[in-house]
Amino acid sequence: MRVERFDAFVERSLYGADGFYSSGRGAAGRRGGDFVTSAETGPLFGAVLANRIDEWWRGAGRPEAPRVVDLGAGPGTLARSLALAEVPVARHWTIESVDRATGAGPTPPAELLRGAVVVANELLDNVAFRWVRKVDGGWHEVWLADGRPAWDEVDRATVARLEAVPSIRALEPGAEFPWCGGAADLIAGVLAAGPALLIVFDYGAPTTGALARRGGWLRTYAGHGRGDDPFDRPGHIDITTDVPFDQLPAPSSLRAQAQVMRAWGIEDLVAEGRRRWEAAAARPDLTAMRMRSRISEADALLAPDGLGAFWCAEWEHPSGGSA
Ligand SMILES: C[S@@+](CC[C@H](N)C(=O)[O-])C[C@H]1O[C@@H](n2cnc3c(N)ncnc32)[C@H](O)[C@@H]1O
Repeated sequence: MRVERFDAFVERSLYGADGFYSSGRGAAGRRGGDFVTSAETGPLFGAVLANRIDEWWRGAGRPEAPRVVDLGAGPGTLARSLALAEVPVARHWTIESVDRATGAGPTPPAELLRGAVVVANELLDNVAFRWVRKVDGGWHEVWLADGRPAWDEVDRATVARLEAVPSIRALEPGAEFPWCGGAADLIAGVLAAGPALLIVFDYGAPTTGALARRGGWLRTYAGHGRGDDPFDRPGHIDITTDVPFDQLPAPSSLRAQAQVMRAWGIEDLVAEGRRRWEAAAARPDLTAMRMRSRISEADALLAPDGLGAFWCAEWEHPSGGSA
């Protein structure tokens, strides 16, 4: 009988031989793809993020060769959007896209991250996670026996990590939640390398308790929408989780995506887009079309029941860092 812990099953299904991402089937946001991320709605997301990177760059004393690393970049769309951004730092920066599905290992090299601005959009939800349930006097988690789920006890080292999270300690028996120790370790590893700034966007909730109460945190994507059974067709569906941000190293800020988009100037970028579209409307070129599309992209990025309700965590190096 083949026995496998749930996170090993997720890891194999996504990144193993013929996994969802390793096979190239995980075509984030491409036409006919399995989901649309903020990066894939159009170049506005990158333009807003560029404002934030520019703000960091000025605050850090305008380092000569700032580096931006997009971790878990998928097809690299965010880097292409950043390259279009019209901000002063764009004359100096280099941008690198890194993804384990295109050759990078699961642990990014420290020299790549040191001093860089690291961004990661919808990366953490795709890091293999465990499926845990609070029971009377302990903790159980899902294992697979011949491909079907069964509950068994959580090991003691992990129990200590679970019980170190206040919102997990407070859960009632019966509560189920994702344990994202792998994502927490990935963030800790990135921070240990010494980036100047780390910015992470993802769906989730500030606390594990909120996710457990809300339910529906285990998400699968297949075809054009959400799938249901995570055990169905391994390698052919995406298996992800809402991210419980209180399981990660504590960020310097955690805000809703809509809030950071506004703080970083999305409304001015839309107003500018409208003006430039109107000025060029008689003979619109590609730039004018891009300007007009900012209006609908902003609607998607700010949607209170969609991307706007995602979360943005930032870890800023106390000294401001330099690249
Ligand atoms: C949902 S896609 C997001 C793609 C892109 N960032 C976007 O916003 O459209 C998640 C990506 O993270 C990658 N990934 C997962 N774990 C990773 C790791 N440890 N290092 C680098 N990339 C990783 C996957 O291969 C996948 O391409």
